[in-house]
Amino acid sequence: MKGQTINLNLSTTRKPKPQTDQLQFGRNFTDHMFMMDYTEGKGWHDPQIVPYQPISLDPASMVFHYGQTVFEGLKAYVQGERILLFRPEKNFQRLNISNERLCIPHIDEEFVLEALEELINIDHEWIPVGEGTSLYIRPFIISTEPFLGVAPSRHFKFMIILSPVGSYYTEGIKPIKIGVESDYVRAVKGGTGTAKTGGNYAASLKAQESAHLKGCAQVLWLDGLEKKYIEEVGSMNVFFKINGEVVTPELNGSILDGVTRSSIIQLVKHWGIPLTERKVSMEELDQAHKDGLLEEAFGTGTAAVISPVGEFVWEEKSLVINGGETGELSKRLYDTLTGIQTGVVEDPFGWVKEI
Ligand code: COI
Repeated sequence: MKGQTINLNLSTTRKPKPQTDQLQFGRNFTDHMFMMDYTEGKGWHDPQIVPYQPISLDPASMVFHYGQTVFEGLKAYVQGERILLFRPEKNFQRLNISNERLCIPHIDEEFVLEALEELINIDHEWIPVGEGTSLYIRPFIISTEPFLGVAPSRHFKFMIILSPVGSYYTEGIKPIKIGVESDYVRAVKGGTGTAKTGGNYAASLKAQESAHLKGCAQVLWLDGLEKKYIEEVGSMNVFFKINGEVVTPELNGSILDGVTRSSIIQLVKHWGIPLTERKVSMEELDQAHKDGLLEEAFGTGTAAVISPVGEFVWEEKSLVINGGETGELSKRLYDTLTGIQTGVVEDPFGWVKEI
């Protein structure tokens, strides 16, 4: 793959850009996209950047029937003349981990990162400037072989699309309310929970719909066996501050290994705040809340960044955290992480890649 030239077929017109203060998450797309194909025996081929447009697929394409697909999410920021990406190599590494699980051929991580940089340079005017905004990057792979048998596809399409975004939640960075899900499960060890694949998200919609009806923005998933231990929130990993210590569920084979999660763990430890990755049960959380020891809770994710949790609704109980207000640590983490990502706070970890 390395050394292959990316064919450029650029648009002669430019779409109007949305106003930065009205940006929603994932509703607008830039002028161009990257794509390449995979054919068994030939490998990944024909990399190209073309005008953003609908694609045409055979209705028998396997992705429509059996969901053999993976995706990633990362962001680009602009700081003066500089365009910054946050730990992009981690996302392409994880894409290959997801590929492995879904029987999708590996991509050349260095090559797709170069392709992404080229695409962003072409569409750089779309990177919004303003608090809480960024250019969200969505790389994804779909299986395209027309075949109705259940087997790994022999043809795939890899694409990258770009979307200027504001906050993921309509609440912005205000604390959100989360419903603890006691009936449905997201994943079990041995399943696809650690892969970023569409089916995990499709399977979460039913629970998310009922959480919305209860006024909750998201669902907190419990483990698939005992429905006792906390796993993650719909689109985020989750952290708690209990009696001065930061705690997050340990990676257990069904939780997604979030890039923001691992960055927050490193940051908190760097600040000398005690942090443990371990099992956390809902009972423990409830008890800590009763004892007045549950100081803060927040979710982490690329799309959501740091999202403070103001309340958990668990069966008939309501666990209000920090009076429903953003906690000190959540705020410090949000400011530091977004500061590093946007290039206004020093990056002692070498996370930011300038393109
Ligand atoms: C991300 O945080 O980038 C994600 O992939 C979550 C997404 C489902 C919105």
